Amino acid sequence: MRATAFAPASVGNVAIGFDILGFAVDALGDRVTVARRPEPGVTISAIRGTPMDLPLEPERNTAGRALLAMATALSLDFGLDMQIEKGIPLGSGLGGSAASAVGAVVAANALLREPRSKLELLKFAMEGEAVASGSLHVDNIAPSMFGGLVLTVGIDHPRVKQIPVPPSVRAIIAHPHMFLSTKQARAILRRSVELSDFVWQTANLAGFISGCYTDDLDMIRASFEDVVIEPQRQALIPGFADVRQAAMDAGALGCSISGAGPAMFAWALESHAEGVRAAMQREFARHGVKIDDWIVEFGSPGARVVASE
Ligand code: HSE
Repeated sequence: MRATAFAPASVGNVAIGFDILGFAVDALGDRVTVARRPEPGVTISAIRGTPMDLPLEPERNTAGRALLAMATALSLDFGLDMQIEKGIPLGSGLGGSAASAVGAVVAANALLREPRSKLELLKFAMEGEAVASGSLHVDNIAPSMFGGLVLTVGIDHPRVKQIPVPPSVRAIIAHPHMFLSTKQARAILRRSVELSDFVWQTANLAGFISGCYTDDLDMIRASFEDVVIEPQRQALIPGFADVRQAAMDAGALGCSISGAGPAMFAWALESHAEGVRAAMQREFARHGVKIDDWIVEFGSPGARVVASE
């Protein structure tokens, strides 16, 4: 009759995979409880844990829209009421809207007579994400759903690939205490890309992924550079260039913007992770920016049901 799902936060883009590559961050996430009710339709009875007003109307809410898509596609003959507990700060670049949408469909799935595959649920969650960012992109939804580092190819028929990350690598996440709208951070992007940047970015994405598959840390380090999106967005994050440089000087494999920002992330070997974290903390503090930070591994199992009755 009722199920609660946890859906992890995520880092979108991972520098070089704009809109198609992301990894799950289990250290924080949203919890969504969905209960069956007799009358068909979707309602949201509570949203907790966030200091900002989020719409309770299902059509305007990312999780609500995802459940509406699911209820319509599956012609559900019962209704769904949802309570959302936000554990991911809004406008942080850590995939908060995606996690709510993913948590909603995973919880609702546990109430179905015939549960659907995660790939099918992904499509419903994508419709929710579109409400938040104004566009259909999958780089937060897919890792939140599946866990780990995830590449998604295609929108109408998404193909999802979990990419192995060398076991010695950790991610360092730094979340500045400020709000940045994903819509705004997308609106500033130029619509076209220089041919030379296209070549460079393509090489970096291919190098990064092949480096992950072959445990080639040198290849990962050499290709961990976004030459298209990061230069256009970095001015939105106070201290970005200094934080990035400090992380690299401390031995990071790479450092960039998490999703649309303002959160930043770095990858580093486990032995360097604390040093990279300290360097990022120091530089943000020097720029007067308060942050939360985490060091995480890549073993997240993705969204899952944590309670049901
Ligand atoms: N790929 C999206 C963007 C992620 O960078 O706009 C938003 O979190």
